[in-house]
Amino acid sequence: MSIKQKIENLEIRRADLAKGGGVKAVEKQHAGGKLTARERIEKLLDRGSFHEYDMFIRHETREFGMDDKTMPADGVVTGTGSIDGKPVAVFAQDFTVMGGSLGLMHARKITKILDYAMDMRIPVIGINDSGGARIQEGVNALAGYGEIFYRNTMASGVIPQISVILGPCAGGAVYSPALTDFVFVVENISKMFITGPEVIKTVLGEDISQEDLGGARVHAEITGNAHIYSQTEDECFEKIKNLIRLLPANNSEKAARIDTKQPESGNIGEIVPDDASAPYDVRDIVRAITDDSYFYEIQELWAANIVVGFARMDGETVGFIANQPLVLAGVLDCDSSDKAARFIRFCDAFNIPIITLEDLPGYLPGVDQEHSGVIRHGAKMLYAYSEATVPKITVILRKAYGGGYIAMNSRHLKADFVFAWPSAEIAVMGPEGAANIIFRKEIAEAENPAEVRKQKVAEYREKFANPFVAAGKGYIDAVITPGQTREFLLHALKTAKGKTTATPQKKHGIPPF
Ligand code: HXC
Repeated sequence: MSIKQKIENLEIRRADLAKGGGVKAVEKQHAGGKLTARERIEKLLDRGSFHEYDMFIRHETREFGMDDKTMPADGVVTGTGSIDGKPVAVFAQDFTVMGGSLGLMHARKITKILDYAMDMRIPVIGINDSGGARIQEGVNALAGYGEIFYRNTMASGVIPQISVILGPCAGGAVYSPALTDFVFVVENISKMFITGPEVIKTVLGEDISQEDLGGARVHAEITGNAHIYSQTEDECFEKIKNLIRLLPANNSEKAARIDTKQPESGNIGEIVPDDASAPYDVRDIVRAITDDSYFYEIQELWAANIVVGFARMDGETVGFIANQPLVLAGVLDCDSSDKAARFIRFCDAFNIPIITLEDLPGYLPGVDQEHSGVIRHGAKMLYAYSEATVPKITVILRKAYGGGYIAMNSRHLKADFVFAWPSAEIAVMGPEGAANIIFRKEIAEAENPAEVRKQKVAEYREKFANPFVAAGKGYIDAVITPGQTREFLLHALKTAKGKTTATPQKKHGIPPF
């Protein structure tokens, strides 16, 4: 064969493999509203940047009639490319090839790309669309998953890991996404569960659809397993690109600084209502502070009583954590503590300063919360804030009561700066509850208990429910006007750039998982 023929032969072979599982399987994939693995990669990465590796991988299974079965690329497309010029490693399971099922070589391709991403210290994006362990390959398939989980764990906190669920992801397969930093799901396409509807029907006799059991909304709203929800695959890819733009490539870098504009902060002083128990959307305050009024929210639909996400301040990425008075008055509970703690640890691992906006009446009381382990879950936040060594700045907007005051990055957990607005109320508990307890006798014995209660509440509020008692003790560094917030934050971020914090030497701590 001449060299020219050999080159032609290579091109034919490549084109053949790129067809995946063939025309019929691709048609079925499209009919289900799904793109193919290669189409997805094309949409996600910079045009023409993708370089595919291990295309010619062949499985070596002989059992169950597998000897003569060809599986192009063994059902997973792997390689490297870029997003906005930033290198990323990618794998995308190809459902058109034996349902994207994972066998030994398929797993090896994934572990190879994870190893490469770790060696090169670049983010990795995994697109999951698979029937799970390739049944014919038996224990080799299970081994493959274990090898992936191990690498996900080793890479955690070193490189950003993004999982995209664009099809089924069932059984133990779900644990790779669960070990990564951000899980993206798409309406009607994503399905995640440990045991599917058929097993549930057999074991428990319960009927449930795949969608109701583990669809995109279920994981974005109820379980919190998903971080970013989209209506379509295209929307999902745009959101992944925006996230990559905000993140550093690894834990020894900072996210790239970009040119930005001032926010539209016109009415920042009018967002918090005069009535201390009236709700407002704390995201309006975030957007009144951040560059371009931009906010990339994480887990928007789950545990919405706390808001977490990324923004930029003077062009640099920061993480925001804010109580949301619009939902459950912004209380902390099991889920919101988990959500915040995880986000704090991500920011800390990747050198992203944390800004905390505080307005909460405390932890949610109730048997349900106590029995769900609010002590353990709530402790996660204390742990995460205390352990974080990135710059940590708090602004108390309104209520900072009880345990909530401490948990929301107080001075006592080693916040670098704590600022408070004049509307801040810092106390062991809200004025109504406090007056009822400490003046119980006086109120009960009064001729007009309602009038006395009102007086005592006002007295308590006057004395404690303001920022000046805490400021007088140095727990707050400055009482500032809403209009000064951005300027104070920018200044604090600038002065904290060279922050160094010594933490005790240890192998690792024992967070209250
Ligand atoms: C081998 C598989 C497969 C698998 C799908 N296929 N899953 N082959 N091993 N796990 C094949 C099908 O036989 C079919 O081949 C092709 O892929 C497309 O699948 P369909 O069933 O036609 O697709 P669809 O109707 O869309 O259904 C998708 C599905 C279903 C719901 C995912 O395929 C399914 O239930 N698969 C099995 C799921 C499962 O039990 N996996 C094992 C989980 S246990 P042909 O040749 O007909 O086109 C597990 C343990 C991991 O993963 C533990 C890790 C620690």
